Amino acid sequence: MSTYESKDVILRVENLSVIYDGKTIIKDINFEEKDTRRGGKVQGQTIAFLGRSGRGKSTLFRSLTGLETPATGKVLIPDIAKYNTDSSVIHLKEVHEGDVGFVDQKYTLFRHKTVYQSLHFAMRHAKTGAKENKDIIERHLKDWGLTKVRDQYPNELSGGQRQRTAILEQLLNSGIFIVLDEPFSGLDVGNILNVKEAFQLVNNSHELNTLIFSTHDIELAVELADSIYIVGHPKLENGELATYATLLKQYDLKGLDLAWKGDLTPEHLTLIKEIKQVMLDS
Ligand SMILES: Nc1ncnc2c1ncn2[C@@H]1O[C@H](COP(=O)(O)OP(=O)(O)OP(=O)(O)O)[C@@H](O)[C@H]1O
Ligand SMILES: [Mg+2]
Repeated sequence: MSTYESKDVILRVENLSVIYDGKTIIKDINFEEKDTRRGGKVQGQTIAFLGRSGRGKSTLFRSLTGLETPATGKVLIPDIAKYNTDSSVIHLKEVHEGDVGFVDQKYTLFRHKTVYQSLHFAMRHAKTGAKENKDIIERHLKDWGLTKVRDQYPNELSGGQRQRTAILEQLLNSGIFIVLDEPFSGLDVGNILNVKEAFQLVNNSHELNTLIFSTHDIELAVELADSIYIVGHPKLENGELATYATLLKQYDLKGLDLAWKGDLTPEHLTLIKEIKQVMLDS
């Protein structure tokens, strides 16, 4: 059994709902995640959201990043300015646009910045020096297969190149919260490995670092996440499915002793099967 403690709350979502054109898309979203502490280790948090298409994952993510003003409820994240002056206690504050790094599902980039310039800009708050930043960027460009396109603009990139640049941009930014909407979709096997390794690195580099991602790949979610939420249409009392979505289930992989394993075990496969069924029923 991996020993760990769950300490201060690092994300709290209260009574969140989003309505578009009079239609409720998501509602009654309530959850909280805590800072996971493992003895002798820096351990961040990796949280995955799964759900069938159109169930509101992207809508929820826009609310988590402050890009969407919810109809009700709020999203609370650590107040980093306060934490930096006193790290013994974590104060929460309501999220505002810009507080949280976001890779949206369209992998939006700065139109007038090349790949290199975008990554350079992403590192503007880094505590490392200019020379070291340059080396870090060059190394990532090489590892992520982007060296050839380093001086190209977004409209000159393939979909996958754009996606990798957008993900790298957020990973190199020194923010502690990163929300990634389908970071793995459409990537080739090598690039999936790059992103997985980058997740590990983020996880091991600051105690509060928290990655939140959505995916349609249940196996990847189970392999990478220490907490998984299923978003879907709940079953109403009359047996029909609601037209809005909410959180149907949470799996705490730490508590199930399935987190941080590296490889998928038979217990992981059982969980994958169960998750599939919850999704099919929603
Ligand atoms: N700006 C908008 N105005 C009106 N309806 C919207 C808007 N954005 C999303 N929706 C609707 O909200 C619902 C949820 O969409 P959302 O993109 O959040 O789903 P998703 O779970 O991310 O789906 P996918 O897995 O396909 O990315 C859909 O029915 C969609 O049509
Ligand atoms: Mg989506």
